[in-house]
Amino acid sequence: MAETKATLSLPDKGSVDFPIKKGSEGFDVIDISQLGSHGYFTFDPGFLATASCESKITYIDGGQGILLHRGYPIADLAEKSSYLEVCYLLLHQELPTQKQYDEFLTDIKTHTLVNEQVVNFFNGFRRDAHPMAIMCGVVGALSSFYHDAMDVSQEKDRLLAALRLISKVPTLAAMSYKYSVGLPFIYPRNDLSYAGNFLNMMFAVPAEDYKINPVIEKAMDRIFILHADHEQNASTSTVRLAGSSGANPFACIAAGIASLWGPAHGGANEACLTMLEEIGSVDRIPEFIKRSKDKNDPFRLMGFGHRVYKNFDPRATVMRETCHEVLKELKIKDPLLDVAMELEQIALKDSYFVEKKLYPNVDFYSGIIMKAIGIPTSMFTVIFALSRTVGWVAHWKEMLEQPGHKIGRPRQLYTGYSKRDYQPIKKR
Ligand code: SDX
Repeated sequence: MAETKATLSLPDKGSVDFPIKKGSEGFDVIDISQLGSHGYFTFDPGFLATASCESKITYIDGGQGILLHRGYPIADLAEKSSYLEVCYLLLHQELPTQKQYDEFLTDIKTHTLVNEQVVNFFNGFRRDAHPMAIMCGVVGALSSFYHDAMDVSQEKDRLLAALRLISKVPTLAAMSYKYSVGLPFIYPRNDLSYAGNFLNMMFAVPAEDYKINPVIEKAMDRIFILHADHEQNASTSTVRLAGSSGANPFACIAAGIASLWGPAHGGANEACLTMLEEIGSVDRIPEFIKRSKDKNDPFRLMGFGHRVYKNFDPRATVMRETCHEVLKELKIKDPLLDVAMELEQIALKDSYFVEKKLYPNVDFYSGIIMKAIGIPTSMFTVIFALSRTVGWVAHWKEMLEQPGHKIGRPRQLYTGYSKRDYQPIKKR
């Protein structure tokens, strides 16, 4: 990569040069890794302007509303590809040939079952446990089952862990739903598509088969594609940091699930539906728009705004189309969709949202689609986690394969006490 330099004028140190690394798209970066030797650290809480790594997986241009996976626009992948093909692309940099795809599909189908002992973990949870709490537990618990592929320095072990996670997370996700409603677990079926198998595990019961609607199956696969990866978001950064210590891949993905759960991140789709239900009707929208602008009110419009996108989230555009397709196919007139459409129109014209570039994000429409499919709101973030598992795993793998990769260890601005003497309790 051609390098130019940035010059920093440091008090009492004079000018210091730092190399600039050029990317293939987007911002170039100033390599400040040697800044510490000049007696300074950078300070960037929330990483607003800090690149934590070099990556080739996903590129986002927030100003233009662009999202590329290995160079392919998300709209093309959502329209023409499939989730498993996108999984292959994210893991292996190229779209698969038919032979590569067939082999990948066979590999995925080889690992869809979980060890029967995993059922015992579910039985330890209360029936009303949030499915995300269960997922944090059972995905992490997979660490205890796979001692045969735990050497993260070996490519074959990294790939086997990746396959196991992509294959088993849907099974565990459906199990967390079945457990919460007191119904028996449904085993995976390898004669079904990835999305069809998930829907079957979610909605089939031993007493009768579940008839897969192709429109719903396609919508589910598209939801998986749209949530598959998103560069260095909070949960992916969590997985990278956990993985940088050499931690077990299943434990790293469990850490990603925990981070995704937050309402500011993947929990926003569930929070968005709860918000729409709280608004309840179109005439109450102005009251909530007003609250969302009030700095003294913690209320935020869930499903709006994004750290990177200061334009329409390209995923939201595709999700919006899918939302209308599903509601049309199921002949659902959902009053919540009326509220959502009106809220979208009002927010897109409201000066506060326009000035702060707060557009609907991926979570705004996904919740309405999933509710229409019959998925409970408590499962929305679980489905986000299911979809994002491939992104987490691809970044975990890329980080470990980066030459000279180190354990992540940020520094700090310390503003606490300077050294002081211990005082015995009688003197305090
Ligand atoms: C995801 O990073 C990723 O890529 C995430 C994700 C992925 O695929 O991994 O895209 C998935 O997490 C999407 C985002 C889902 N979250 C929500 O929908 C929750 C609601 N959104 C907000 O919490 C917020 O927009 C964030 C957290 C998403 C982004 O926050 P930032 O970038 O840190 O911006 P900010 O909170 O500093 O907000 C900037 C301004 C503030 O006002 P001022 O202090 O400048 O006066 O905009 C306001 C905020 O108060 N603001 C909102 C708002 N979001 C930001 N005001 C009302 N409603 C909102 N939703």
